[in-house]
This record gives sequence, structure tokens and C-alpha cells, in this order.
Amino acid sequence: MDNPIHLLYFFVSIIALVAFVRRRHDPLNRIPAIGPSAPLVSYVGSYRYFHHAQEMLQEGYEKYRKSAFRVPLWNQWAVVVSGSRMNEELRKLPEEQMSFLAAADEFMQLKYTIAPRHPVHVKTMRENLTRNMATLLPDLIDEIRAAVQDMIPTHGAEWVSVTGLPMMTRLIARVSNRAFVGLPTCRDSEYLDFFSQFPSDVVKGKAILSMVPKPLKSLIGPLLPWSRRGLRRLARHLKPIIEERKKALREFEGNWVEKPNDMLMWLIEEAMVMGESTEFIVQGILSANFGSTHTSSISVTHALYHLAGSPQYLQPLREEIEGVIESHGWTKQALSMLWKLDSFMRESQRFNGVSGTSIMRKALSDVTLSDGTRIPAGTFVYAAAAATHRDEENYDNPNVFDPFRFSKIKEESERVKRQFVSTAPDYVPFGHGKYACPGRFFASTELKAILAHIILCYDMKFEGAGGRPDNVWVGPAIIPAPKAKIMFRRRRSKNA
Ligand code: HEM
Ligand SMILES: *[C@@H]1O[C@H](CO)[C@@H](O)[C@H](O)[C@H]1NC(C)=O
Repeated sequence: MDNPIHLLYFFVSIIALVAFVRRRHDPLNRIPAIGPSAPLVSYVGSYRYFHHAQEMLQEGYEKYRKSAFRVPLWNQWAVVVSGSRMNEELRKLPEEQMSFLAAADEFMQLKYTIAPRHPVHVKTMRENLTRNMATLLPDLIDEIRAAVQDMIPTHGAEWVSVTGLPMMTRLIARVSNRAFVGLPTCRDSEYLDFFSQFPSDVVKGKAILSMVPKPLKSLIGPLLPWSRRGLRRLARHLKPIIEERKKALREFEGNWVEKPNDMLMWLIEEAMVMGESTEFIVQGILSANFGSTHTSSISVTHALYHLAGSPQYLQPLREEIEGVIESHGWTKQALSMLWKLDSFMRESQRFNGVSGTSIMRKALSDVTLSDGTRIPAGTFVYAAAAATHRDEENYDNPNVFDPFRFSKIKEESERVKRQFVSTAPDYVPFGHGKYACPGRFFASTELKAILAHIILCYDMKFEGAGGRPDNVWVGPAIIPAPKAKIMFRRRRSKNA
């Protein structure tokens, strides 16, 4: 074998043989595949998944109802379950068998690309942020009024044109950060710029790490610059504020009347109790921003596009909002009475959503599902969110956007179960079960306040003659047409 070509042939045949033997013994191969499944050729399938995830997930969902199928991610197969009963089964499996934490860690390589997932960060979002919504709301409304005026620069009754998605991304970052870090940082453009750029750094880091063999990840991971760079950049903004607030906490000893009411403050207090450093606080703010900016802006843009595409929905929504605000003001209670708007948001989330898959899990041991599907340890498992949301068994006329389908429900207790934030086996845009999105109550209030304000203050339509443009899928991510322009015209409203 002195000829290098022979050597190459030799190695290729060994690799093919190993792949063939492993394939015969891998229980994963008994799960039906969407796309080509032979070794190496499956990479063609993963290319297809990047461009046609929607069709592939729908095909698997319909062919393997109440069972499971697999789709090719670029370096591995993921199993996807079909139907709400299987969604329920997936979310109920114990964490030791089907782990959300392991999946989240590996999916984005969080530890190296963003920051280690800290249970206290998540708890602060789930508990403190949610419980403080009523007191936070006036600040959010104030920020929404100021930000919308900056971002939709109307003069008199003229129409202005604004690109929807980037406008909403900026708006969400600013309004959310009013609740995360407060004024004046939430209006600092250098601070806000960071959050629109950071996700692409995360994707870069994740792409590199997914090519690194497992045993080397803990060596290569810490060498990636972006997470450290991002945390350093955030710390530049936050550290002086943190120091100042810590000092005030010590000085006022529990009698600090003007104590800020935001996530930064809760994280500072938790950190002081736990003896954690500034780094822990900055990581918490970064995680909250990473979890919220794009999910929220994509969700609110989906809904906005339905309004601009079908302005006939504006009138019934305006009547509801005017009436409730007239009697209750801009309060948390008022927002919870906006059933039509809530239904509109839930319907938009059902019809569009942020991802074709959710209820992300990773099998930590071999798991056999109730339909007999055997999932080997190490496999990623998902619910087919978009296909579930378009399943006739779950929704009448699932392919029709019916904005008030949930507010029409007569029984109040049923309507409560069908709110924007209420996850169910047939409604999984926020995941479902113990690890469902901890920020969804905040997102619901924030998005509702933004939409209510815009609905009262503006007429809107798409630039040009077409209606709502189609969503774009990138892998399983669902994005509203990123370049679509909306025309706005200021209108008078005494309750805005
Ligand atoms: C409409 C907006 C949002 C959507 C659609 C959304 C969706 C999701 C989904 C699907 C998951 C994963 C659940 C799973 O796969 O089982 C998740 C997790 C998460 N979300 Fe959200 N989210 C939104 C807003 C927010 C906001 C505003 C925050 C922060 C305040 C946030 C913070 C997080 C965090 C930290 C996690 C990880 C949870 C954990 O580690 O336990 N999200 N979100
Ligand atoms: C956050 O919420 C928890 C649970 O309600 C509470 O025990 C804790 O004191 C709160 N933290 C802060 C800093 O307010």
C-alpha cells in the first residue's frame, strides 16, 4: 500500500463497513426516516431539512400519526413525535430519561456560547418577573409610548413606511430591557445594538462546536471568544450600575424607598444572598435577553402582519381595547380582560409560531414510547409544533386564520385554558410541562401592551398591493418575511 490512493480506498472501505455494521445494530434505524437515510447520503437529507423543514416535518407527522419518525439534523438524527397524545407523553417522561436540561445545554452549547444555565436566573424570570408584572406595567407602557413614537416616525396624518421585523426587534429589546435593567440603559443604542448582533455570534459558536468531537468540546469551548466578549461588553454597561445599587442596598439597609423594580435588582439581591459575583448577574441579563429578544419580536411581528394584511380585524379589536381601557386604565387587570386580543395572539402563534419543533428533549437512557418506538440514549427528541397546530384533530379548519376562535368560547374556564400563555398538548409554541418557557407571562403582557397601543394609535397596511407575505423557514425556525414594509398612519385615540 505504498500508493496513497490505495491507502485512501482502504480507509474509505473501512469507514463504510463500520457505518454499515453500526447501522444494522442501531435501533434508531428502525424509526422511519424522512429523507434519504443511507450513511453519508443522509447529509443530503440534512441539507434538505435546512431548506424544507416545514414539508419534511409535515410529511412525517401525517405518515406516522400517533407514532414517531426521524429527520436528519446535519450531524445526527432527531426523533420527532406526532400528535398531541405523544406530545403529552414526551413532556411527562422524567428528566432522568428525557432531559430538557441536557438538550438545552447541547443544542446551543449554552455553556460556551452564552453562559452556563443557572437555575436562579430561570427562577428569577419565572417567579420575580411574573409576579411583578402589575407594578412593572406602568414603566413598560411608558417605554412603549416613547419607543413606538421613535420607531414609527409619523407626521400629521401622512402614511410612513417601516420594515416590520427590525422595527419590532428594536422595540422589543428596548421595552424588555426597561424591565430587565431599567432607565437609562434600556435606551442606550450601543447597549441595544449588542442584542441584535449577539445571536449570530451564538450561531457561529454553535456551528464550530458541532464539528468538534465530544471529548474535545470542553477544551475548545472555552477558547471561543464570543461569549466572553459579549459578557465583557455587557459588564461595561452594567457593572457601574451594579456597584451603585449594591452600595445603596448597604446604606439604606432595607429602607430604600426608591429601590428599582427590575430584573437587575432581583439578580443583585439573589447574588448577594448566594455570595455570587457580578459575573453571575451579567450572565442572567444576557440569558434573559437571549431567551426573549428574537422569540418575542418574531411572535409580535407575526401578529402585526395579520393586522396589516387584514385591516378589517382592527375595528373589533379597537372597540374591545377602548372599552376596557376607558373603565380600567392601562392596568394588568385591563390587559387580562382583552379576550379578543389574546385570542388574536394565540391564533397567530398557532398559525405561525417561532419554531416547527418544540418540547426539546435528549434521551439520557434508552426509552421505549407507548407506541413501541425505541429511542436510543443520546438522541434528541421533539414535538412537531407546527404540524400539531395545523392538525384537524386539534382545530376546526386548521389552515384558516380565525382570529377570534378562542375568544368565541362561551365558558370562561375554558377560555382561560385557551389563553395565549396556556400551554397544552395541542398548543406548544412555548414548549409544555415543567420546562415550558419561564418568560411567557412577561411576553404575554408585553406583547399585548405593544399591540394594544399600536392598534389604538395607528392605521396600518402593507406597502404595495399584496396581502400578508409568507413566512420564511430556516431549518425549523419560522420567521415573518424579514423585509416586508408596513405603512402606518397616526390616528386619534383618547385612551392611547
Ligand atoms: C413570545 C415569546 C416567547 C416564545 C415563543 C418563547 C418560546 C420558548 C420555548 C419554545 C422554549 C423552550 C421550551 C421547550 O422546548 O420545551 C423557551 C425557553 C426559554 N425561554 Fe422563552 N419564549 C418567549 C419569550 C421569552 C422571554 C420574554 C423570556 C425571558 C424573560 C424567555 C426566556 C426563556 C428561557 C430562559 C428559556 C429556557 C428555560 C430553561 O432553561 O429552563 N422567553 N422559550
Ligand atoms: C423572588 O421571588 C421569590 C419567590 O417569590 C422570593 O422568595 C424572592 O425573595 C424574590 N427575590 C427578590 C430579590 O425579590
